[in-house]
Formats: sequence, structure tokens, C-alpha cells
Amino acid sequence: MTQDRAAQLAAIAQQLRTCQLCNLYKGTTNPVPGAGSPQAELMFIGEGPGFHEDKQGLPFVGPSGKYLEKLLALIGMTRDQVFIANVVKHRPPENRDPLPEEILACKPYLDQQVEIIDPLVIVTLGRFSMARYFPNGKITQIHGQARLDEHRAYYPLFHPAAVLRDPNKEAAMEADFKRLPEVLKQVKELRNKNQPAAPEVKPDEPPAKPKQLSLF
Ligand code: URA
Repeated sequence: MTQDRAAQLAAIAQQLRTCQLCNLYKGTTNPVPGAGSPQAELMFIGEGPGFHEDKQGLPFVGPSGKYLEKLLALIGMTRDQVFIANVVKHRPPENRDPLPEEILACKPYLDQQVEIIDPLVIVTLGRFSMARYFPNGKITQIHGQARLDEHRAYYPLFHPAAVLRDPNKEAAMEADFKRLPEVLKQVKELRNKNQPAAPEVKPDEPPAKPKQLSLF
């Protein structure tokens, strides 16, 4: 199963090397499929690769990534215990916002990654990934408020770059982050509760006798 997930994620990364579903691939160095644990309980979704990510083919390796690592350390985690992806997998020119058609073209890749990893919590970083799960949400109003469905939580957070630009958001970002372990716990309880019950043993049926092995 573990092998399966890693292999499936690697297949997506391979497809992205030749992806031309939108024009973003033009002028880029590397696609940035996403990275981390295929068994991650927490999946972070950002916006799109920037300069450093494009050079290395890895998500969140520039200043925003350093800050994200610091936030993860607040809850005793490292980046290889989670999975980090983006809504678009190639760097938009000059780090401009991804266009709706680019997000749509790239959607099947992200949809598949979510399905393969099956995270307990999806943490959206910034407004573009937030819009996937909270189409009418306003980040200033809903950050740090988890929405649970029957087996997962969606947790909108500010984009780390927005916090770096505006230090007034730092205290809220850190407080939101520190609530993540509690959100994870809630989803684990929910999944346990929703697990199909073990088959019932009927009281009037005696347990089957083990068969005697005959030597003849
Ligand atoms: N910002 C993002 O949204 N994603 C990255 O991978 C890096 C910076």
C-alpha cells in the first residue's frame, strides 16, 4: 500500500515533466509536483511555485518555506512528515497569480494527489487553495476555522508569504497552527466512529468446532 502510494505519486510527477495542459510550463525550469510523505495525515496546499521552487523542483523551499518549517516545528513536525503541494505545478511568470484556466487545467493532478494520500486534514495556504474548499470564504474571516465532513477536515490558513509581508498576521497564524493537533485528533475520532463495525457474533450459534485432522 505504502509502495503503491509512492509509486502513484511518482507517476504524477513523471506526467508533469511533459505536461502542456496550459501554458505555464513555458519558460520554467522544473515542474513542482509536491513533496513529502505519501502517508501524510496533514496535506498543505499552497498557490504555485516561485523562483526557488522552480529551480529545485520542490515546493516551499524559499523564504515562505523556511517560515512554514518554523510553523511545523511549533507542533513538533518536520516537512517530511506532511505532504506539501500547490494548486498549479509550474511557476507562473514573475510569480503572478495563477489564472482560473491554469488552476482548472492543473486540477486533475491535485485531485489525484488528494485521493492517493487521503490526508486527515487539508490545510489551505492562501486564497487560491482556500477557494477549492471554501468557494465563498474570506480568509480574514475564516482562517483557523476547521470544516469537517465525514472523514476529513479542511483548515484554511493565511499564506506564509502574506504573514511575512504583514507581521501583524503572525500571532494569528501561529495560534491557528497550534490548533492543528486538536483538529487532527477530532478527525481521527471521527474516522474511528465511522469505521464499519466488526461482524456481529450471533449468540445462538456455537462457535464452529475446529476440524479434527484425520490421519487416514
Ligand atoms: N508559495 C507557494 O504558494 N508555493 C510554493 O511552493 C512556494 C511559495
